[in-house]
Amino acid sequence: MGVLKRYRDLLPIDDKTPDVNLEEGSTPLIEFKRIGAELGIKLFGKFEGCNPSGSFKDRGMVLAVAKALEEGKKALICASTGNTSASAAAYAAHMGVPCFVLLPAGKVAMGKLAQALMYGATVIAVNGNFDKALELARAASQGENSILAMVNSVNKYRLIGQRTGAWEICETLGNAPDWHAIPVGNAGNISAYWAGYNEYLKLNKINKLPRMMGFQAEGAAPLVTNQPCPNPETVATAIRIGNPVSAHLARAAVQESQGEFNSVTDDEILAAQKILAARGGVFAEPASCAPLAGLIKLKNQNKLPSGITVTMVLTGNGLKDSNTALASLEADNKAKPIEIGDTQEELMAVLNSKL
Ligand code: F0G
Repeated sequence: MGVLKRYRDLLPIDDKTPDVNLEEGSTPLIEFKRIGAELGIKLFGKFEGCNPSGSFKDRGMVLAVAKALEEGKKALICASTGNTSASAAAYAAHMGVPCFVLLPAGKVAMGKLAQALMYGATVIAVNGNFDKALELARAASQGENSILAMVNSVNKYRLIGQRTGAWEICETLGNAPDWHAIPVGNAGNISAYWAGYNEYLKLNKINKLPRMMGFQAEGAAPLVTNQPCPNPETVATAIRIGNPVSAHLARAAVQESQGEFNSVTDDEILAAQKILAARGGVFAEPASCAPLAGLIKLKNQNKLPSGITVTMVLTGNGLKDSNTALASLEADNKAKPIEIGDTQEELMAVLNSKL
């Protein structure tokens, strides 16, 4: 069941709202017992890579697109580090409306680019970073009579739809976690999750709130340094953002929840990505692994309380950026299969060397 149907009573929709549905949401909340035991916590990952376009963006996009069509908009536009564009393009294709996506040239993972092109969006590569592309898309869609719906997270419906992730976690766990660990780029998702948890507290569906722990990449960490970052750089291209639009909301979420922002290096992110895959069985994209990298770092600094329940949002599927994964395995000399001839002996020699 898609999120508009599952959460109909909690979302701003009625009979006039077009029925948009790619069966998004209801993603698995996976317990990572091996990794959790090493960290001394109960560790869960909400695997948002299972959404139809492979990232959490679908939860908000479905509502943003439904409301845009309800309001009579004729086309979608967004700037994106990749996932928003894949999601917008997918829903546009499904509903038969044109979609324009602005991407920072050369800085988008290949899988995401392939998705936007396959879904049939008009893809425009901007020779500038995400922050610049967002400025251009915003200006293009301004004016009350614009037929373009801007579907970045500045669109309020995106963040409302993304609250559903928090609701699903609460329903699965029976309460909120102690810590909610999440990567932060444009800062919309952390704000949406915080709003979602608060709404469920008000509705008495949970009886506590989590500490919101936001993780950024060291080369793109304006919320950690408290300064805009004019030239963001990180291997986690999804969160390569220097001037987050929802910074004020994210700061409030962290402050009100007595949480923290922390940064992690690209090496720490790539190491965490391998741990999640090789000891957890989930392949998530680099940005999604910033929270695990951060938890490992906090554990090493003796700042991770033992025995707590932590949920991480694994925001996007690792298959979107297999080039980065293979390059990181290359460094360990593990990026290639073991090639053999066609004999049983050769196969047995490999099996025996590994068992
Ligand atoms: N993780 C992934 C995989 C993302 O794609 C993004 C954002 C984030 C985390 C950060 O979420 O921006 O709400 O703080 N991607 C956007 C995009 C910017 O264009 O796809 P945020």
